[in-house]
Amino acid sequence: MTDDRNGTSMKRRDFLRLLGAAGGTAMVFGAMDAWGLASAQSAEAPPSLDGRADGKRVIILGAGLAGMTSAFELSKLGYETPILEARDFAGGRVQTARRGFTLTEVTGVTQRCTFDHGQHFNHGPWRIPYHHRSTLHYTNLFDVPLHIMVNDNDNAWDYREEEGNPWSGERRRRREFTADMGGYTSQLLAKAVDQGALDQELSEDDRERLVNYLVLYGGLDRDELEYRGVAGRGYDEDPGPGTNPGVPSDPHAFGDLLRNSVINGFRAAEGHTQKNTMFEPVGGMDAIAKGFERAVGGMIHYGQEVVEIQTNDDGVVVTVEDKRSGETREVEADYCICTIPLSVLSQIPANFSTDFAAAIRAPTYATTGKMGLQFGRRFWEEDDHIYGGHTTTNIGTNITYPSYDWQGEKGTVLGYYNFGSTAIEVSAMSPEERIRYALELGKKVHGDVYERAFESGFSVAWHLVPYSLGGWASWSSDARRDHYPRLTEPDGRLFLAGEHLSYMTGWMSGAIESAWLQIEKLHEHAHARGLAGVSRA
Ligand code: ALA
Repeated sequence: MTDDRNGTSMKRRDFLRLLGAAGGTAMVFGAMDAWGLASAQSAEAPPSLDGRADGKRVIILGAGLAGMTSAFELSKLGYETPILEARDFAGGRVQTARRGFTLTEVTGVTQRCTFDHGQHFNHGPWRIPYHHRSTLHYTNLFDVPLHIMVNDNDNAWDYREEEGNPWSGERRRRREFTADMGGYTSQLLAKAVDQGALDQELSEDDRERLVNYLVLYGGLDRDELEYRGVAGRGYDEDPGPGTNPGVPSDPHAFGDLLRNSVINGFRAAEGHTQKNTMFEPVGGMDAIAKGFERAVGGMIHYGQEVVEIQTNDDGVVVTVEDKRSGETREVEADYCICTIPLSVLSQIPANFSTDFAAAIRAPTYATTGKMGLQFGRRFWEEDDHIYGGHTTTNIGTNITYPSYDWQGEKGTVLGYYNFGSTAIEVSAMSPEERIRYALELGKKVHGDVYERAFESGFSVAWHLVPYSLGGWASWSSDARRDHYPRLTEPDGRLFLAGEHLSYMTGWMSGAIESAWLQIEKLHEHAHARGLAGVSRA
């Protein structure tokens, strides 16, 4: 936490008290199951449901992707699906910061984005893996154009500060380390095979096949099985025209590589949710929210904050406060689909049954923050030849370069993306201090140009965002076992949906597919009670 010189930082104790007030018991450091620990099979398309339920009313709480998916699909069956949304825009966490976008965190601090027209920054969801078919179903249906998001780039830098690491405090290209580690580990294994160390495990033919593979994979000398560098690690002088074959670079020493913690991060881009092809919508992630809004916008009532929920076997009554007039009213419906994040729902008075209420309190919510920095010059492209991807560090964040406007004049970089205690500490800073913090981090990698080219910054701390209070739900394995299943079933006539009701927490597909699952259950429930008629052809 920063010092209080400017009178803008909060004292740690005050800040933690505020966090507690904002998030209740759920507001603790979130584990990272958003990174795709246990991805369930991603569904391709919404369920195909039979039968009409004309005039039956399903009140939907929240106009994020889960709420709008529910309204879109259920309204096709004749359900009346008013959506109550506390914010004055649709999309929930699917937001994009661009000029004029404002955000007030629960501390009361407001930021207004001052990026140039044409610059944007996805401070919420920012990437769509190719296998998230449900998200791609709707981008296709709603004509949301996509482009590639470069999620891995080994020409980006690695920067670390750590004892024993010979490159501590010095930036290096990630490709040097990936190539050399592949080379040396291949060399060791190939020599072990050659010297007979694996004769028990492998047949002679398989030993030969494995050595062939290692020679190709590691770039080894075929006769001596030695790694002496490989073109993919880069040249000291690039090949050129005429008589210039280039000057290959020498590999680092193996022992030095082993003392560099970068080697523990190589697999990050290989995780199921992180692999190519990765997409993002042209112009910003909120294009997805706007696509849904074109379809269901007429059903959304904005500025409606839920202050109480009553559910029983016959229906639901939701009390809402109109944030403009301050007036409260009761809304009755046959059913409710509640997509309010559990960090927020746990604080809303409700007559939920004891086990349901306990399950709502069971997950923690991720503390996470992002910073968008607009620069007047794309120095990472012009000077460093980095086109998208992430510079990796061990100093609190990666730095991610934009995947749009290649070779343009300006660009907006993800200056930090932090989690856990780092996210909490940084979020306690004022917006200006957060920018300074981000610039100091970036200067370590890019030098003074980072400060000279800087023009404007915009940050978010999701655990401090009203109506979100966290980036995504984090379920421990105990909570998954003991509480999670209860939330996938209704309480009275109320069904939950949202990324928290999935094994794809922190992903838009989690929100969408939880809605697909729950509307099917709701419709079956309605059938069973004669509320929805079957009209099979
Ligand atoms: N889905 C989130 C991300 O891509 C956690 O960073």
